[in-house]
Amino acid sequence: MGARRFAAAAVAAVLLYLFQWLANKDQTTSLDVVIYGATPSGIAAALAVMDTWADARVAILEPANSIGGMATQGIGLRDFKYVELMRSTMREWSILNAQFYNVTYPVWQPDNFVGEASFKTLLGSRGIHVYLNTRLEQKFSAIRKTPHNRRLIAAIKTYCQGSSQSRWWTAKYFVDASYEGDLLRFSGASYTLEREANSTYNESRAGVTMSSLGDFDVDVDPIGVNGELLPFVNGFGPSGDPGSSDKGLMGYSMRVCVTTNLQKRVPFSRPPEYSARTYELLARYYRAGGNATPYLAYPYVSYPERDKFDVCDNGQHKEYVAGMFWFLQTDPSVPKKIQHRN
Ligand SMILES: *[C@@H]1O[C@H](CO)[C@@H](O)[C@H](O)[C@H]1NC(C)=O
Ligand SMILES: *[C@@H]1O[C@H](CO)[C@@H](O)[C@H](O)[C@H]1NC(C)=O
Ligand SMILES: *[C@@H]1O[C@H](CO)[C@@H](O)[C@H](O)[C@H]1NC(C)=O
Repeated sequence: MGARRFAAAAVAAVLLYLFQWLANKDQTTSLDVVIYGATPSGIAAALAVMDTWADARVAILEPANSIGGMATQGIGLRDFKYVELMRSTMREWSILNAQFYNVTYPVWQPDNFVGEASFKTLLGSRGIHVYLNTRLEQKFSAIRKTPHNRRLIAAIKTYCQGSSQSRWWTAKYFVDASYEGDLLRFSGASYTLEREANSTYNESRAGVTMSSLGDFDVDVDPIGVNGELLPFVNGFGPSGDPGSSDKGLMGYSMRVCVTTNLQKRVPFSRPPEYSARTYELLARYYRAGGNATPYLAYPYVSYPERDKFDVCDNGQHKEYVAGMFWFLQTDPSVPKKIQHRN
């Protein structure tokens, strides 16, 4: 496309875009702070704003149907290492949890429904509203440039999951508290991803490390019969020099709550698209004498590029984990003591 035609198309696109905005086809809500993601960090950000900025108008937009992120959905045992470092929001939360259980010590591992109720109480105490099922429209954010050429988010557009209702949001500040960094990515703001080298910010723990934490405890051949890598094995391994940057992201998965109470048990079923081949790496791990459960055996599982970013759209993750439970229960490669574990 010639530069002139490109410029004309760009102007037309901007005009159309402004027109859609000004025509007020979609409702616009103007606030001081819009936080994307009712994760613990999103909730903490909202509380911090309300506790330090009198009369601030704050809202949290949450793409899912519940609040609290991983602290209330799916993870029974939360990854808390040093509770003495837990301050403000999380400490208040732990005390609310304690009130539910009628105990005098802070409760860091409440049942999911208790944890969620405590977050709701915290938000309610400051009058903070959470808009659930509110998802970003991928290509609709307004970016403004500052005199120093910094790109800032001026407005974002969301749609309500399951309806055609959409809405614009303007704010003085936007906070991306999503796990996936969707707000930054969708709005086209500048951001960084992947693992930085330890030299970038002079961080001794950054970059490639040679830790063996999470390695398989037995050797497993990752190459299939035709020389291909097995499903979910990526080729880039620990190839970089220690401290260097790489393209690795952490593995994402679904954690499922299961029970040992026979009366409450729902049997695992065979997912419609199930194929034992998907779990060939795990089969080989067991055949090689490994006997850990997949939480330990699968730290390096990685998903196709697309899926790394679409954790909300968890069809594939769900399918994968459901199939893994079916595999564990039925595949001959799995040790009996794992298959019959209660
Ligand atoms: C806590 O105490 C209250 C009041 O005595 C009681 O109603 C409630 O059932 C108790 N909760 C738990 C989880 O024991
Ligand atoms: C990097 O960090 C170390 C340890 O904190 C410090 O001694 C050193 O001066 C830092 N280097 C730079 C370039 O900031
Ligand atoms: C980065 O890692 C390398 C290799 O382990 C190490 O020699 C170097 O000191 C590290 N740099 C920082 C800033 O920690």
